[in-house]
Amino acid sequence: MNDILPEQTPVWQYLEKTVKDVLSAYGYSEIRMPVVEQTNLFKRSIGEVTDIVEKEMYTFDDRNGESLTLRPEGTASCVRAAEEHGLLFNQMQRFWYQGPMFRYERPQKGRYRQFHQIGVETFGMASSDIDAEVIMLSARLWKRLGLLDSVTLQLNSLGSNEARADYKAALVEYLEERKDQLDEDSLRRLDSNPLRILDSKDQNTQALLDAAPVLTDYLDQESKTHFAELTSMLDEAGIAYEINPRLVRGLDYYCKTVFEWVTEKLGAQGTVCAGGRYDGLVKQLGGRPTPAVGFAMGVERLILLLETLELIPESVKQPFDLYVAAEEKGIQSRIVLFADKLRDQFPGLRVRIHCGGLKNISQKAQQTGAPIVLLLKANDNQQLSGTIWYDKEPSFDLNEEQIVDKISGLR
Ligand code: HAM
Repeated sequence: MNDILPEQTPVWQYLEKTVKDVLSAYGYSEIRMPVVEQTNLFKRSIGEVTDIVEKEMYTFDDRNGESLTLRPEGTASCVRAAEEHGLLFNQMQRFWYQGPMFRYERPQKGRYRQFHQIGVETFGMASSDIDAEVIMLSARLWKRLGLLDSVTLQLNSLGSNEARADYKAALVEYLEERKDQLDEDSLRRLDSNPLRILDSKDQNTQALLDAAPVLTDYLDQESKTHFAELTSMLDEAGIAYEINPRLVRGLDYYCKTVFEWVTEKLGAQGTVCAGGRYDGLVKQLGGRPTPAVGFAMGVERLILLLETLELIPESVKQPFDLYVAAEEKGIQSRIVLFADKLRDQFPGLRVRIHCGGLKNISQKAQQTGAPIVLLLKANDNQQLSGTIWYDKEPSFDLNEEQIVDKISGLR
């Protein structure tokens, strides 16, 4: 679990703001859920035999003996909240959320025990246009961030529950006959969650899967049509994708569309955003049948990617626009007041004043990296006058009025 230090927070804010701008362009509303839920919520939604539920949840009993869990993801909480507040039945909804998630995983670059997601969940829309929308929304975000060339969209359809059950049976039959060649993890999953074997990183198992039955061949007609409509919309929108028949995702609630945006630039933890359709989940959690589709992106991974590719604009890390310092002793209180006057005059202008020693002040002020530096002294009439530095160019001996005019011109 990491501290996010002041040097880093501007980058977080830059990413968060860019995401919010894109989400608002699509008319999504923010929802905020608690970070703790009843443990059963996650067991019932993510699935008992998934890595998350089996070994990654931070679960504890509260003082009442009730089992609670720090949320490992946002979808279950979002469904719980929306259902609890009557936001689902007969309605179409587009929500987004952001915040920390918790998974007891082995930490490594891009994988942490407290990490942050920004997620999107939509409800009440069964047709493929909304699948296309959420993917197009994410693509627009990559474009805004300059990432579009560095991420690839992997796409698959898991079909209906029935189709998946048929496929599961065929896969198990095939693998049962070759049990002795399976890696240990896959062998364990053969009984509990065979589709997850498709995700195995083991080379022998992957080779074995080359000749295994393919999920695509088992898709029901409705899912096939849904998927064909989706891919044709993506084609029209100019969004490239790779169909990956082995993409199954690690959470049990998905059906039909699943997708992941992956990059090769981050090593093993290359999935920066992932999601899909989960038409059965609302009902499974006690609501009426409600189609749903969504995704979540990993904020740490996106920031790592932006940093690796040097895509963070220089200005983002600078916390102030104007640095104001006294050039001589004895006028500090006037500096404080003058800076506040500037804040009144220029709402939004970020002004930081220099406090403390004045030795080499001109140099020190320049070194702050502020785009505008203002050095002040009092003239013979006790009026403030100053030098403004902008782009390494000084303008000397400006009176208060001229200072205001100059700043106004620079903004
Ligand atoms: P997920 O694939 O488990 O899906 O997580 C989504 C994203 O969160 C991942 O692609 C990754 O970027 C990030 N992430 C996951 N675990 C970690 C970790 N330990 N450290 C850093 N980043 C991580 C879900 O959570 C689903 N709720 C997504 C969804 C929303 N599906 C439908 N709606």
